[in-house]
Parts: sequence; C-alpha cells; structure tokens
Amino acid sequence: MRRTTRSNRLLHRAQSVIPGGVNSADRAFRDVARSPLFIRKASAAFLWDVDGNKFIDYSGARGQMLLGHANPGILKAIRTASKQGTNYAAPCELELRLAELISRVMPSVEMVRLVSSGTEAVMSAVRLARAFTSRPKIITFEGCYHGHADTVASRQPLLAAPQPHRKGTGIPDSFRVDHLVASFNDLGSVETLFREHPNAIAAVVVEPVAAHLGCIPPAPGFLEGVRALCAGSGALLIFDEVTTGFRVSLGGAQELYDVKPDLTVLGKILGGGLSIGAYGGRRDIMHAVAPTGPMEQTGSFSGNPLAMAAGLETLRIIMTHKLLYRRLEESSARLQALLQEECDRRGIRAHMNRVGSMWSLAFSSSPVTDYASATRIDTHRYAQFFNAMLEQGIYLPASPWETAFLSTAHTLRLLDRTRNAFRGVLQRF
Ligand SMILES: Cc1ncc(COP(=O)(O)O)c(C=O)c1O
Repeated sequence: MRRTTRSNRLLHRAQSVIPGGVNSADRAFRDVARSPLFIRKASAAFLWDVDGNKFIDYSGARGQMLLGHANPGILKAIRTASKQGTNYAAPCELELRLAELISRVMPSVEMVRLVSSGTEAVMSAVRLARAFTSRPKIITFEGCYHGHADTVASRQPLLAAPQPHRKGTGIPDSFRVDHLVASFNDLGSVETLFREHPNAIAAVVVEPVAAHLGCIPPAPGFLEGVRALCAGSGALLIFDEVTTGFRVSLGGAQELYDVKPDLTVLGKILGGGLSIGAYGGRRDIMHAVAPTGPMEQTGSFSGNPLAMAAGLETLRIIMTHKLLYRRLEESSARLQALLQEECDRRGIRAHMNRVGSMWSLAFSSSPVTDYASATRIDTHRYAQFFNAMLEQGIYLPASPWETAFLSTAHTLRLLDRTRNAFRGVLQRF
C-alpha cells in the first residue's frame, strides 16, 4: 500500500479551516470512497503527492493541461510578464493580443470578454443572452456542468454531486422557474421545451461534448438540430467550450463538428494553467455588453496579465506544432485500443468513450450515450478500479462521470506503463 500519512495529516488539519478540507467540492474524492491526496508538485505528465508518491496524471487539472504540467515555455512567459507587475485592473496589450488570437482561431467569436473563470464566463454569457433577447428562460442539459452559478445550477442533477435535488442548497426556487432542462442527445426533448415555452427561451447552453457524464460525444445531428431550433425561435445557442475549447481541435468542438454557435464560453486551456474564462461571439450580441450596451459585467482580475501571457504562449505553442492534434489523436487512440484490448481479453464489461484526447471508461453493461445510461454506470466498481490504479501509480479522475485527458506529455512509453498497470489491476478484478 502506498503511504499517504502526510496527505491524511494535512487533510485532517485542513478540515478544521476549509470545509471538507478542499477548496472545490469535486476534490473531495466522494465518488471513490477515499481521502484526497495533497499534491506537492506537477511536471509534464506527472504528479507527486506530499508523501513522495509519483503518478502518471490523466486528470490534467481537470483538462487544463493540454501541454502537460509546468510547460517550460509557459513558465517563462509567466515569469517574464510578472516582472512588469502582476495585475493592473486596467487595459493592457496582452489582453488585446489574446482576444485577437481567439477571434482568429475561432471565427464565430467576433468579439470576446476575458474574465477569470469558466463559471464567471457562463454566468455572464447567460445574462448577455437574456439581455439581448429580452427573454427569461434558458435550457441546459441533464448532467452537463457549467460552473456553480445559480442561473445554471438550479436544476442540474449532476451525477458527481447531486445536491440540487436536496433541500438547503442555497439556490432559491425562483431560479428554477427560468431554468429548463432537456436530455443530452435527445433533440425531441429540446423541441418539446421550445413548444411549451414559445418566445420565452433566451438561450440553449450546451457542452458540445458532455464531459461530466463520462465523456459523451454528441449524436449525429444533435448539435445541428439544436442549432436549427435556436435559429427558428430567436433563441441564442451558447456552446460551453470550457473543456472542449483548444482541446478537441484548435477551433474547439464547433470546428470539429462544424456547428456555429452564437456565443461561446471558454476557459481552462486558454489560461495556460492560470485562472481564466472568456465569453464571446456575434458582434451584434457582444455590443450589448457594457460599456457599449446595458449588460453590466466587471472584474478586478479580468484580463489579468499573467493569465494573458500564459494563454498567449499556450496558443503560440499549439499553433507552432502543426501536427499537435493529429499526434494527440494517435496517442489517445492507442491508449483506447490498449485498454479496450485488456478488457476484452478478460471479458470485463467496460465501455470506453473518447473524443480526441478526452476519454472515460465506464463499467457498465451498455454504452454510455446520455444521462440515463450514465446513471447505470457501476460506481462501486469504478471506485475499486480508481483506487487500484492509484496504487499502481496512475491518477485518474476521481469520479466515473468525470472525463480523463491526455496531454502532449503522455509519451508512448507512459501509455505502455498505463496499460501494464491496467492489466495488473484487471487480473485482480
Ligand atoms: C464545461 C464547463 N463549464 C464551466 C466550468 C466551470 O469552469 P471553472 O471551474 O473555471 O469555473 C467547467 C469546469 O469544470 C466546465 O467543465
């Protein structure tokens, strides 16, 4: 058994000053029945905990680390920027350059606002949609995650944290009135809501690849259908590309699936490991944001120069390596083949979903394609699996409903090591 004495000790101390000892509920390892590890450092594809254990990391700071941890170019960009001060809360050239670059690689984003987190960006995009359309309601999808703002969290039955069903969540019931929920990959459910609420829906907010139900790709025609329904009814289509942006391709899921949203929300990879969020889209819609329009949005850390520098360097590296996404696809496909082969060899019922370097492994009798099938995942088995893999030095997402990620730092040698660990685990399964 790996030693976790120091982690346990720190958790114990932390629990007296931080709720649950963690600064984000998803770090508590609730779905895998164990205590979280305290991380000491991260580099390339590796994490080290405070007890000296080293892991191959497939969590990637929840998808941020496309280029691996502590990328030297990004660290240098942050160091260089920090010599000019750490924040001005005033316009700076770095934010302009990042905005121009986003607009170039994601043509639907004609104008963009840079903020400090995905949550903040989604919250702002929804307010903007309401301001622009003068309509109150939004549609999201069961089990999809868009941050914890009341507007998008009031009805969200998140499998990894199903609190919205319980009392005492702190979200007033009034939010539920204007928050409608459809089923991911079920166009009929969206049609029904549009029919039931004519001229009332401001926006449909969707993760183009559902990354919080495992990793579920959109069914053929689903995103196109939602696009058409929005266009037909005057509602805006908001793609939450906080996870998929710069991940599934440089231009995000909208490029991969060739569907153009009205507004896009970005985060994670865009910050090169520092806090960031962004929302942008059609020029006429973005003009509704203050000071050009009435939709207020401000932020002391918006356009923070360190995050801008890290984001610029991240995009520069991605754009310099022409084969980056092809290579990531190849290594991710290889990992999928290796793991699936091991499952098949042992007759283990497991389904691996994958979109580029996003993937999930579900112990389930049927493929996971929507919310209903995601509820059928054998969570107990995943917890056993997670813990056994951790023992073997592989750090996976601590929930069967969270997506795992490869980075450019995951070499073929590491994939083979992962397969060997997997084989060892399955032998005792
Ligand atoms: C799709 C999606 N939207 C929004 C968010 C919230 O982003 P943040 O954690 O930066 O607030 C997340 C975070 O996991 C996400 O995956």
